[in-house]
Amino acid sequence: MGGGISAYKTLDLIRRLRERGASVRVVMTNAAKQFITPLSAAALSGDKVYDDLFSLTDETEMGHIELSRAADLVVVAPATADLLARMANGLANDLASTALLATDKKTLVAPAMNVRMWLHPATQRNLATLRAQGMLFCGPADGEMACGEYGPGRMSEPLEIVAAIEAALTTSTLLDLPTDLSKGMARSASLSGRHVVVTAGPTHEPIDPVRYIANRSSGRQGYAIAQAAHAAGARVTLISGPVAIADPAGVKVVHVNTAEEMLGAVSAALPADIFVAAAAVADWRVDAVGATKIKKTSADPPVLRLIENPDILSRVAHLASGRPRLVVGFAAETDDLEQNARKKLVQKGCDLIVANSVAMGSTTFGGASNTVQIVTRESNEPWPEMSKHEVAAQLVGRLSQMLDNTL
Ligand code: CTP
Repeated sequence: MGGGISAYKTLDLIRRLRERGASVRVVMTNAAKQFITPLSAAALSGDKVYDDLFSLTDETEMGHIELSRAADLVVVAPATADLLARMANGLANDLASTALLATDKKTLVAPAMNVRMWLHPATQRNLATLRAQGMLFCGPADGEMACGEYGPGRMSEPLEIVAAIEAALTTSTLLDLPTDLSKGMARSASLSGRHVVVTAGPTHEPIDPVRYIANRSSGRQGYAIAQAAHAAGARVTLISGPVAIADPAGVKVVHVNTAEEMLGAVSAALPADIFVAAAAVADWRVDAVGATKIKKTSADPPVLRLIENPDILSRVAHLASGRPRLVVGFAAETDDLEQNARKKLVQKGCDLIVANSVAMGSTTFGGASNTVQIVTRESNEPWPEMSKHEVAAQLVGRLSQMLDNTL
């Protein structure tokens, strides 16, 4: 943690990471301690805070070399202009910069500084050096700054950094994964020059101006697929229903509410090489949406008449011209998983179905992991339980192979 006003957001980042089951060890620069107390960081991380390069106790307990190697990922947030300059030049004059120089792990940097400092040629030069070394970046975002100026330099929001961390960890986990699944899949995943359109999240179907019909979809699987496709080099358009996840970096996101809006946005986003329908689109919408709020005036509760929504997946798969080369659907089933998924594959006309069980007690909806079967016309492949990011990366690997094979 470097010293900047946005260090307060890093406290929230620590909390969000702990919520997701990560263990977090905090290293603070002296400047960071001017903005945030080590006590707050320790309370939120549930661990002591490291800040002193020459602490005898720290060296006997952990040591500054071990400190940066015991982690799966090193995150620099906020990365100030000064910290970036020290990193780019290999300085090791405090514990944070020493740990950064000594690490053999991936480093993800979330810069935060005044717009002029960000745009200064010295900072841009340091940035280019760090990028060339393979360092990962999240942000900075554009916007109004604490100093009153406007432009690039704001630290990314905690949830955006969490998404970048999840993506960085997935890629590194996959490269180390010794299972058959990862062999020749994630490694060969290249979608460079391809356009991938993904739908994600639920849809909200209005009843009147204040009420709507919705479902439990969190959008996490679809967002992870969009991120994985972007990481594989694709141009990605993500059409998202209402979710509580930040837009993934580098992906064009179109926000919609209803199934009809989602269909319109998908049509506008085509043509594409791959279409992935991960959204939990409401099957029905209310026939006559109230123009004003329905009141409890009459004795009888209102009766809603529902009409069917367009099936976006089926429409795209049956396009007479401009059909994406690969059309992928999802099937959430409570029983007869393979049989029902296969039926859906044929009826909806898609090339691959990601089938998952949503039987009572399963944690698919809203959870971080997913157990899926990949059903094509020729095969059925059960995959082991994986995080939604791993499912996304494996699926992208599979789709890139399928595209290459159908050339
Ligand atoms: N889908 C879609 N548009 C809809 C309904 C579903 O694009 N109006 C897509 C989903 O994104 C998913 C797939 O179709 O990829 C399966 O949706 P699902 O709701 O499981 O299937 P249904 O056709 O609704 O069948 P059932 O509810 O009877 O299982």
